[in-house]
Amino acid sequence: MVPLLLEGLKRLEYRGYDSAGIAVGGNGNGLCLRRASGKLANLERALCASPLHGTYGLGHTRWATHGPPSERNAHPHTDCSGRLALVHNGIIENYAELKQRLLAAGHSLRGETDSEVVAHLIEEHLGGDLAAAVRAVVGQLRGSFALAVISRDDPETIVAARWGAPVVLGLGEQEYFVASDVLPILPYTRQVIYLADGEVAVLRRTGICVTGFDGTPRRPKPQTVTWDAAHAEKNGFRHFMLKEIYEQPIAIRETLRSRVDWQKQRVALAELDGLRDRVDRWQRIHLVACGTSLHAAMAGKWMVETLARIPVEVDYGSEYRYRNPVLDAQTLTVLVSQSGETADTLAAAHQARRQGATTLAITNVPGSTLARESDATLLTRAGPEIGVAATKTFSAQLTALLLLALDLAQRRSRLSEARAQTLFASLAALPARIEQVLERDPDVEALARRFYRARDCLYLGRGIHFPIALEGALKLKEISYIHAEGYPAGEMKHGPNALIDDQLPVVFLATCEPGQVASELLYQKTLSNMEEVRARQGRVIAVVNEGDREARKCAEAVLEIPSASEFVLPLLEVIPLQLFAYHIAVLRGCDVDQPRNLAKSVTVE
Ligand code: AGP
Repeated sequence: MVPLLLEGLKRLEYRGYDSAGIAVGGNGNGLCLRRASGKLANLERALCASPLHGTYGLGHTRWATHGPPSERNAHPHTDCSGRLALVHNGIIENYAELKQRLLAAGHSLRGETDSEVVAHLIEEHLGGDLAAAVRAVVGQLRGSFALAVISRDDPETIVAARWGAPVVLGLGEQEYFVASDVLPILPYTRQVIYLADGEVAVLRRTGICVTGFDGTPRRPKPQTVTWDAAHAEKNGFRHFMLKEIYEQPIAIRETLRSRVDWQKQRVALAELDGLRDRVDRWQRIHLVACGTSLHAAMAGKWMVETLARIPVEVDYGSEYRYRNPVLDAQTLTVLVSQSGETADTLAAAHQARRQGATTLAITNVPGSTLARESDATLLTRAGPEIGVAATKTFSAQLTALLLLALDLAQRRSRLSEARAQTLFASLAALPARIEQVLERDPDVEALARRFYRARDCLYLGRGIHFPIALEGALKLKEISYIHAEGYPAGEMKHGPNALIDDQLPVVFLATCEPGQVASELLYQKTLSNMEEVRARQGRVIAVVNEGDREARKCAEAVLEIPSASEFVLPLLEVIPLQLFAYHIAVLRGCDVDQPRNLAKSVTVE
């Protein structure tokens, strides 16, 4: 049992790595716990020094919300008598009030987490059935939770409950699993059930039983996961992030597969078929996302407005949910999320649905909450992404958004033949072009060696290139801890120019689609901005079209990418920026795949 739990936690560690712990039962000694602050390796060491055995158990890796990362605050949590052990994802918003009540009733709580109160609340209802005790408590909790609980009085039984945080059940051969995503379950089975909000599951050796919080039986349908356990291995790469950067050609090929008729030069998104009667009604599109996905959405705005001429607004999930946006049946709200579990993005989806908009999910995880709760889903088929820094899923999101823009443009007869010709040719050649860019990795590494000691860094671009500047800056800051900002190149003169000195690297996105007037115009303006930075002794690095001598003259160093349609250029530009951030982080000795203070999917507000 312990090796199985540790193996599962390894596959989940990307979700949080502030502390880890396990609890096992079935050893004749009640429930036994081991917990350790920091990464899973610390827990493994503790278990080597003092091993545990059992036939059933729970494990957890934590991303701290309430209470600092410490052994005391690590999950699993127990009740006063140590009869039960509990793990929790999410936030219990009314924990302070519940804790007061428990303390007044004589409970002794050991840590500062919101999760611990749930173990003590369940203790108050123990005596009979563990599932009944869990059901008695869930109604008292405000906030979000995925819970799993074991009790020494109910051997070989796990009770799980879900409200607003993911829970997946794995259906093996006389063995059953519960986890917060499919990755730890995949080595044992691909048959899974996604628990819905308001459901409780009881797992025993003999089977799984699902009910509502009120005990009413539910019959959720099992689904087959197509991902393979091997997808979540490093396959010889030093880091998951590097492997995932190199997987971008395949991620894009997969995302394009069967969605484009290359001969007829038409996009046909079967995913929108169910919405066919609404498509012509959409007067405006809202794109909502967080982090890297938001940058993809910003580029998506540019694609949809330019190609389909539909007005688009882009919002952070955390802002949209509280800003009371103007929404109606003429609005399409597109939620972009790699994980499909980001709490702010999910809340935005709920807001949009409540106000009568159609919701379309662009996500990488087929059974995710966002996919299940949206009117339609356009899957990016990048495969599991383990590195906390999103890379291949960003490219797949850009690809999916370009397909959406083309689909809408063609449905509305907005795409000229000439534009279609260059765009489809560019899109078809994209995976091979990315492979060419990846071959230049040694040049990027050499450049990283020149700049890895920088304290700050600016990334500048205009038009569709500005979101890529934001993304380049986010990659650098999140994995190397260098302060970096993305800015529209034309805005520099309104303040940020004051930051420029002879120490500051300024990365420009200075590419264009030759022959496209608007693209060439922006490029010329960007060259002027490069001159302005150079005139102030800034250290200009530029991503440029292959063989562009003019841009080279304005820069201290260049990173070349092949020519492409202006809609495809962002997908090429981002590759050297991802590699630049990666090499700098490695040179600075940073933990590339698990940067400090972060978690891969942010299922809390
Ligand atoms: C990107 O490198 C980050 N890990 C982060 O900004 C991420 O994109 C964000 O949390 C949104 O996640 P999602 O795509 O799963 O919704």
